[in-house]
Amino acid sequence: MDVEISLRVDGTAHRLSVDPRTSLLDALRERLGNTSPKKGCDHGQCGACTVLLDGRRVNSCLALAVAHEGSTIVTAAGLAQDGALHPMQESFIRHDAFQCGYCTPGQIVSAVGMLEEAAAGWPSAVTAEFASSNVSVESTDPGVLMDDEIRERMSGNLCRCAAYANIVPAIRECAR
Ligand code: FES
Repeated sequence: MDVEISLRVDGTAHRLSVDPRTSLLDALRERLGNTSPKKGCDHGQCGACTVLLDGRRVNSCLALAVAHEGSTIVTAAGLAQDGALHPMQESFIRHDAFQCGYCTPGQIVSAVGMLEEAAAGWPSAVTAEFASSNVSVESTDPGVLMDDEIRERMSGNLCRCAAYANIVPAIRECAR
């Protein structure tokens, strides 16, 4: 039996009826016609479906829409405001940080979310995850994200064209 939920997506309130098994990604794409988040693997492996869910980046293919009644969602399409691209979108263009572009909306949303996490202080779960890894990710300058740190914190977003050489500088420029 379908369930009625409310979602605020890219600044617009929606009321929709969904099967409880519907992923947030399918609700966005198929019910609301927002094709900005992409379906790559549909298994939480590629990050193409990344959205900001109440300010936190998530793989929307892994989230059930009904579990997020009343939530606020931002997709790459919603980052542009009043006809102006978000600075991260501008930076990706300036750095030519894509090839086919399929992963780009997820990359950009994830990068924006990552910088918001950095500004707010890294979540303790994330800090613990890195503390248990062999990767040194903490910059000695708190205002600067090192390239290795960007790569590590963006590791959930894959680019099959391997445009990382331009993606990392695009994010780094916005991080300053
Ligand atoms: Fe969601 Fe790949 S489509 S992580």
